[in-house]
Amino acid sequence: MDIFPDEIYIWQHIEKTAREVAARYGFEEIRFPTFEETALFNRGVGDTTDIVQKEMYTFSDRDGLSLSLRPEGTASTARAVIESGKYADTLPLKYYYIINCFRYEKPQAGRSREFYQFGVEIFGAQNAAADAHVIAMGNALIRELNLKSVALHINSIGCPECRPKYHDALREYFRAHSDELCDTCRKRLETNPLRILDCKSEICSKIADTAPRTIEYLCDDCSAHFDSLKKCLDALGITYSIDTRIVRGLDYYTRTVFEFISEGIGAQSTVCGGGRYDGLIESVGGPRMAGIGFAMGITRLILSMKQDGVLPEPPANLTLYIASLGDAASVKAIEIADRLRHTGISAESDLVGRSLKAQIKYANKAGAAYTLILGDSELESGKAQLKKMSDGSQVEIDINNIAEMKAALQ
Ligand code: HAM
Repeated sequence: MDIFPDEIYIWQHIEKTAREVAARYGFEEIRFPTFEETALFNRGVGDTTDIVQKEMYTFSDRDGLSLSLRPEGTASTARAVIESGKYADTLPLKYYYIINCFRYEKPQAGRSREFYQFGVEIFGAQNAAADAHVIAMGNALIRELNLKSVALHINSIGCPECRPKYHDALREYFRAHSDELCDTCRKRLETNPLRILDCKSEICSKIADTAPRTIEYLCDDCSAHFDSLKKCLDALGITYSIDTRIVRGLDYYTRTVFEFISEGIGAQSTVCGGGRYDGLIESVGGPRMAGIGFAMGITRLILSMKQDGVLPEPPANLTLYIASLGDAASVKAIEIADRLRHTGISAESDLVGRSLKAQIKYANKAGAAYTLILGDSELESGKAQLKKMSDGSQVEIDINNIAEMKAALQ
């Protein structure tokens, strides 16, 4: 993915805001490798998911070990927690990450093969208060980015105790429609009928509309957990709707699943997806330990911000452009620019031998707040006119007095 300066400031704004909000909610940054052993994602994300079956970038290293570029961050974070032994520290562990991920998907608006996620994970907290905490953090970030057309959808998909009953009900329902299902869903009927609920095919999706709903099959504990989450969200004043079609495309989820969905950015409208994964850490070789988290797609956040008209202003980076005429003035311009930079001022001078007129044109285009023109007479007198570009006003400055110049630039 190539991102140029004319857009990077939006990314930086989102990342900075995400870091600030995460810190306020007590999350600390974690970094982990771009690729892992393929087996981690097979076991963590799940063998029956599209991600593992169709979308991973998998290759062998020189020893024949199968590695995959990370398609997401949760499995890697769990692996890091296990490998480091941090699971034995004071709980809960709360991490956030900003990472690139890789999935071999059909590119379209809001979906690319390399994409960026801001994600958070909590390990070792099983109470619904933790679910509410991560949702509140995601909600706070979305509000802080001024997004208006984003809505929270929640659901509970139960646990290994209640899920078999639900799977049976789904199988029974979908078997009656098996002739109409797409080929993939016909296979899913046996392997993982839950996956049919988020099939993108129009026919499967229509059939799924009237399928049995997860929340009607929850065991008492899962039901109480979901009630408790709703109470917490109500207490926090967070608006949500219960959406029983949300089952998420990764196998590790248990109980709470949720998505923040943006209206009007097209088919790829989920800006944030997450949920609880109480079995993941154990399934990838760790102790039995609860987990909950989410990840937001940065490109989808940008699409949503564009749509809501809340993109940040491009930053004004250049304080001073020093134009020069002649070799001696050009050297003086380089010297002044660098001395000013040492004091914290952003300054530029000509590096490509432009005419004076072209230099001024460049300064305008670069959005310089001030310009200074140096020629032989300025070098001789040691004085030059500092021009404020916003109103054209000029003040005379001593070109050998950097402190005075800096003061005039504030
Ligand atoms: P996910 O739903 O696969 O969940 O991805 C999370 C978010 O990443 C999506 O909602 C979307 O905004 C963005 N995203 C996914 N695929 C693409 C793509 N191809 N192009 C652009 N953006 C994309 C996870 O990855 C889980 N690990 C989230 C999680 C963390 N659950 C618990 N903890």
